[in-house]
Amino acid sequence: MSELKVTAIKEGTVIDHIPAGKGLKVIQILKLDKLDGGALLLAANVHSKKLGKKDIVKIEGRFLSEEEVNKIALIAPSATVNIVRDYKVAEKFQVGIPEEISGILKCANPNCVSNHEYTTPKFYVISKEPLKVRCHYCERTMEEKEILANL
Ligand code: CTP
Repeated sequence: MSELKVTAIKEGTVIDHIPAGKGLKVIQILKLDKLDGGALLLAANVHSKKLGKKDIVKIEGRFLSEEEVNKIALIAPSATVNIVRDYKVAEKFQVGIPEEISGILKCANPNCVSNHEYTTPKFYVISKEPLKVRCHYCERTMEEKEILANL
């Protein structure tokens, strides 16, 4: 086990290998600031062999849905999700960028219908590396920088 920067958790999820500086965004996108019950731990800017520096988010007593894991991938494609049970890592997997994104990303086109009607924004991923998506409604394409600004 790597050096423990923040305390180990008994039961829950550890999102590891988040690019440094993106940990708070992960917390925000998963709406973990509204978490009631378990502890939420953030280690920011800690040493990593693979990334140089990284952030880690630990969520006690909470497991993630597939959709939530997909959201993390947009912000932190390098992230690893660890499911912890009884203090042990029971499962570990790499996040993956989904084929479609709905609900979390706003279209950057101010005239897009998805910004004016009660429609759920929807995008198709046309490239994963570098990240590029196309709006289902107005066909505007958005690249990584614009995507991060509109999450
Ligand atoms: N972890 C935790 N609580 C536990 C067990 C593990 O918070 N009860 C955390 C560790 O601190 C680490 C992550 O979960 O950040 C993954 O744990 P582990 O697989 O033991 O660490 P590494 O081998 O360093 O993981 P990797 O190979 O993915 O870098």
